[in-house]
Amino acid sequence: MNSYIALIVTIAMAAFMQQAYADVYMHNPRGSNDRNCEINVNRNNGNRLFDSQNNGKGGYACPRAVGGPEVVTPTMYYYVGSQLQVEWTNQHSCGGVNAYCDVVLQYMCEDTAPGIRDGTPEDEQDSATDTIPFDENDPSASDGERYGQHETWDYYKRCRTRRRNNNLFVADRNSRKLSRSQPATRTRQNENGNRNGLECPEERDYYPYWHPTPWKDIAVFTSNVSRCDFYRSESQNNRAKGDCRKSEAEIQEAMPYNNERECVENGGVWKLFAPHTNHNGDSLPDVECYDSSRIWSRDNSLGNTQSGHHANYNWTIPNDVHDKCVLRIRYNISTADYHPHEIDSTYNWEMTPIRQDQMNGEDKGYGWELANAINTNQYGRTFQDRSYVFSIRERPSDISPSAKIYNLNVRGKRGNIVQTFPAVEYDFVPQFLVMQGGEYLHIQWCGSDYNPNRNPNDAEGGPPYLGRHQARADRSNILQMDNSGLNLARKIDDVTMFLDERTGKPNYEVIKKLALVDQPIDEVDEDNQPKCLTYKQLRELGLRQNDAERDERNCGKLNGARTPYFDGGLVRMVATGHFKYYSSRNNNFSNRSQKGEVVVLNGWYAAAGHIQLSAAVLAVIGTVMALLM
Ligand SMILES: *[C@@H]1O[C@H](CO)[C@@H](O)[C@H](O)[C@H]1NC(C)=O
Ligand SMILES: *[C@@H]1O[C@H](CO)[C@@H](O)[C@H](O)[C@H]1NC(C)=O
Ligand SMILES: *[C@@H]1O[C@H](CO)[C@@H](O)[C@H](O)[C@H]1NC(C)=O
Ligand SMILES: *[C@@H]1O[C@H](CO)[C@@H](O)[C@H](O)[C@H]1NC(C)=O
Ligand SMILES: *[C@@H]1O[C@H](CO)[C@@H](O)[C@H](O)[C@H]1NC(C)=O
Repeated sequence: MNSYIALIVTIAMAAFMQQAYADVYMHNPRGSNDRNCEINVNRNNGNRLFDSQNNGKGGYACPRAVGGPEVVTPTMYYYVGSQLQVEWTNQHSCGGVNAYCDVVLQYMCEDTAPGIRDGTPEDEQDSATDTIPFDENDPSASDGERYGQHETWDYYKRCRTRRRNNNLFVADRNSRKLSRSQPATRTRQNENGNRNGLECPEERDYYPYWHPTPWKDIAVFTSNVSRCDFYRSESQNNRAKGDCRKSEAEIQEAMPYNNERECVENGGVWKLFAPHTNHNGDSLPDVECYDSSRIWSRDNSLGNTQSGHHANYNWTIPNDVHDKCVLRIRYNISTADYHPHEIDSTYNWEMTPIRQDQMNGEDKGYGWELANAINTNQYGRTFQDRSYVFSIRERPSDISPSAKIYNLNVRGKRGNIVQTFPAVEYDFVPQFLVMQGGEYLHIQWCGSDYNPNRNPNDAEGGPPYLGRHQARADRSNILQMDNSGLNLARKIDDVTMFLDERTGKPNYEVIKKLALVDQPIDEVDEDNQPKCLTYKQLRELGLRQNDAERDERNCGKLNGARTPYFDGGLVRMVATGHFKYYSSRNNNFSNRSQKGEVVVLNGWYAAAGHIQLSAAVLAVIGTVMALLM
């Protein structure tokens, strides 16, 4: 091939490789898509923690207020047994006829330091987006709070020293790069052995994995439920997994053999790693297995399922109490050009049923050959997203172990619908919830202060970013409204959604907390100036409209909340009713809407109450009456 053609081919290949055909984005909990604290529209580094294969514009920014390690933003936490609605969108259909689809949900936890971490910026300017260093001979090279870490140094080292599974189908990929002696860091989807954080590529691409993995299984959605028994029995929740060692001892003694027979023949010990357990050493529940038609979605949409909502799974938080956990979703789509789960290495290279950029040279009778776009490293491809670090907590001792707790969170990020894409605008999660009187909501959310700059025309409020005329922060609150078509809050005395358990009167403390999100409305600063000012007061100080909107004293816009994290705690729902609520900051009819509904059945107070008509509505009625008379 002459060098000019080689150049063209290289450019074409490069363009091809960057294209993402299908993506998965987790919206609740917020998926990072490898982002951290960069303030850009596109993420800085797609190799930071894991291989997502997603578009670089996706993902939510780090759940932090701006600053270095001295700025500590609390992390999300979920109570044992509470229900968390995990939500995601996937681009290229699932549960339909156009692709074979598996979705795998898993989590991992750890309590040791530094251990699992998001990566903390060094200072205000730092985005902390570098990939964690890896030195084969020096685990301490991977230390440092600045680097995000999920899998461990030991784990990745093991992946690099273990041979790849030679029974895997690799189509016509490079036979040298994928030869028998190559390590498990090389796969059909990653033949160059690229490193993404400390993830093991072979484990990433395949499920259930045949060697030990730190990931605990939650649920699988599959196009073929006949495979559910296989998933349950092969899951490391149930089954020990083996690894070859020179002795039972440590990682440095690991040997390259990837199966028991070769291991023992070569003088190794096939060490079994027991099934995963919880923090008490108790076994974990079976992986749940569902038909992926439950999360049916069409191609090319990153949209809703037939339910009218994002694909979702209600995760009952396991009794596995830890400080630091992450949630992972993988979206795996395979072609039906071969039997995806049955095809193996006997179909490699000269036997492959598919070829790279295969022109359909054979005459199919059309009078001309027609080209097919085939990238054999992507025929069968896995996409991924992961959450930021959260913790799993013991339930408070005064809450009955059997009482149901629903997590009520906020998804989305700052910006209009085009700017946020493929992430989403603000919404409550779940947007619609039916519960019984006496059950609890755990109201909590975390956004970021590291979004791209979105001025008032594209999103509301501030505070200003590092004192500059930029607004990057996410904030939310909850206010009851009369009905979802209205966009104004009820008077506090008329709030029926949050009643005092004993008196049946509005629970003023809870209502104000959710409305004002802990802003210092009654406090003064060191110069004895109020920390919160009204919009009018700010304008009277000479601030222009946009500056007043972003001013950190504008508590009407929630700018006085110093962190994107808010914990409303457990709120017991005691009034029967169908409650509608919204966030006054982000809801801006008709630009964006942040509204939710909760239906409470069998409460012990009736919520009907009287509905106070606003002065404006009364004025309109008055005018109409006057005209009629
Ligand atoms: C993805 O599907 C392929 C079959 O095409 C299968 O071999 C592999 O284990 C799956 N990987 C994951 C992560 O589900
Ligand atoms: C479904 O899975 C079963 C069990 O693994 C397998 O025998 C069968 O061929 C699969 N069916 C399809 C349509 O892939
Ligand atoms: C998850 O729970 C929410 C709230 O109860 C419900 O609206 C939703 O339909 C549930 N999702 C699934 C997949 O069952
Ligand atoms: C509502 O949105 C519009 C357009 O995005 C913006 O100009 C306006 O300032 C917003 N309204 C308020 C009250 O902030
Ligand atoms: C918001 O709505 C206003 C009023 O309808 C409109 O002028 C403006 O263009 C909208 N802004 C965005 C970002 O959609």
